[in-house]
Amino acid sequence: MLLRSLAVAALVAATPAFAADPPQLAQCKVCHNFAKGQPNKIGPNLNGVVGRKAGAVAGFNYSAAFKAKAAGGLVWNAATLDPWLTAPAKYIPGTKMAYAGLKDPAQRKAVIAYLTANK
Ligand code: HEC
Repeated sequence: MLLRSLAVAALVAATPAFAADPPQLAQCKVCHNFAKGQPNKIGPNLNGVVGRKAGAVAGFNYSAAFKAKAAGGLVWNAATLDPWLTAPAKYIPGTKMAYAGLKDPAQRKAVIAYLTANK
């Protein structure tokens, strides 16, 4: 009885974490940290990136191509993240985000939902 309720409690506790963390995020984590205060890696820390101006992480050395695009007023939201994550090198030619892109629309949606909630 006790074991059963423990198992249920564990399941309930585990569910939100799973829902908030899409499997494709593992690819991003090679280069990005997502929690507040963690250092930049190969890419900038992505905590709170949605709703923010592109290229705004202090101490991160963005590529010239990325800085030029950011200076044009790029703000990250679902509409701008979708093409960026589909094909970074197409959206910002010359970017140093060496990532081929996430081609599956449902997977992109899940990653963008995660980024939006990750404040
Ligand atoms: C191989 C390393 C690498 C991988 C994998 C990678 N990124 Fe990046 N990312 C970078 C780099 C480097 C930059 C900075 C680009 C520049 O300066 O041209 C960047 C920039 C970004 C930015 C813009 C941040 C800002 O401050 O404006 C977002 C958003 C982003 N990445 C999201 C993702 C997501 C989501 C994934 C996974 C689907 C991912 N990245 C996978 C290296 C990577």
